[in-house]
Amino acid sequence: MQHDGLAARGTGAAAPFVLPQPERLALPDGAVQVWRLDDAQVDPACTRLAHTLAPDERARALAYRHARHCNGYIARRGLLRWLVGGYLHCQPEALRLTVSPFGKPVLQWPQTGLAFSVAHTDGLALLAFARDCRLGVDVERRAGGVAGGVNAADVPGFGRGIFSVQEAQVLARARPASAEALLSIWTRKEALLKALGTGLSVDPTAYTTEDDWRRGAGHWRASRDGIPMSGWTCLDLDAGAGFRAALAVSLPDASVAWHRC
Ligand SMILES: CC(C)(COP(=O)(O)OP(=O)(O)OC[C@H]1O[C@@H](n2cnc3c(N)ncnc32)[C@H](O)[C@@H]1OP(=O)(O)O)[C@@H](O)C(=O)NCCC(=O)NCCS
Repeated sequence: MQHDGLAARGTGAAAPFVLPQPERLALPDGAVQVWRLDDAQVDPACTRLAHTLAPDERARALAYRHARHCNGYIARRGLLRWLVGGYLHCQPEALRLTVSPFGKPVLQWPQTGLAFSVAHTDGLALLAFARDCRLGVDVERRAGGVAGGVNAADVPGFGRGIFSVQEAQVLARARPASAEALLSIWTRKEALLKALGTGLSVDPTAYTTEDDWRRGAGHWRASRDGIPMSGWTCLDLDAGAGFRAALAVSLPDASVAWHRC
């Protein structure tokens, strides 16, 4: 497959990939829509969407050394353009995307209240959308029954410099399931920091994420320097047995729905 110099070489069996009709895309206030792109859909997504990428995005795609990473980026960015274009009633190729000093993709044109966040790991990409809020999503793979490929023996050192004191205590109490606990804290924290737009460029230990049992299983809450961040919906996402995922959105009672192509 060739796309103006962007090569999508086969990476395995292709799965069905049907793009949603733009006119059927609707994003109500207070709703978060999470789209999943499985690895087996990457090649068909590349074929359908590579032409929508801007020159700087094509250059970034071509800079990847491995075809797999190149194709994954084309598919994610193409699907991002398709869905943003659908929600905003614009042509995907007409959108102008730039990047913040911290690496967060930003919609420069058209300027609207559409918020989005992208995450990917080996085997899966997630793209989340909502209106008039801050939004972050993260996903990590559980490799061979071990969370994120992390060996349980390495867990205590792994979150150093990332986890707050309270999170480190939760991790210490979680043995022998500490690899799973680590992945839970990790995905929650990345989702939160991506929603804030800083990523790990701020001191991540200032933020604490913890279970919020009052709101139910799968809910968590966040605080900064001990001060609760109110008005947020923070959830673990069920992305399938092989993955751990989390979402943070600055809306008080957001509803979350899954979609796939
Ligand atoms: C954001 C960050 C936590 C992502 O970590 P990761 O686990 O490697 O990657 P993920 O799969 O979770 O997310 C990748 C996506 O996050 C998004 N992203 C990157 N930086 C982001 C930020 N600061 N805020 C929100 N989202 C960001 C991009 O959409 C990226 O997708 P892409 O590769 O298709 O462009 C990490 O890259 C980070 O801390 N970046 C900030 C550090 C910094 O200042 N970088 C400057 C680079 S210009």
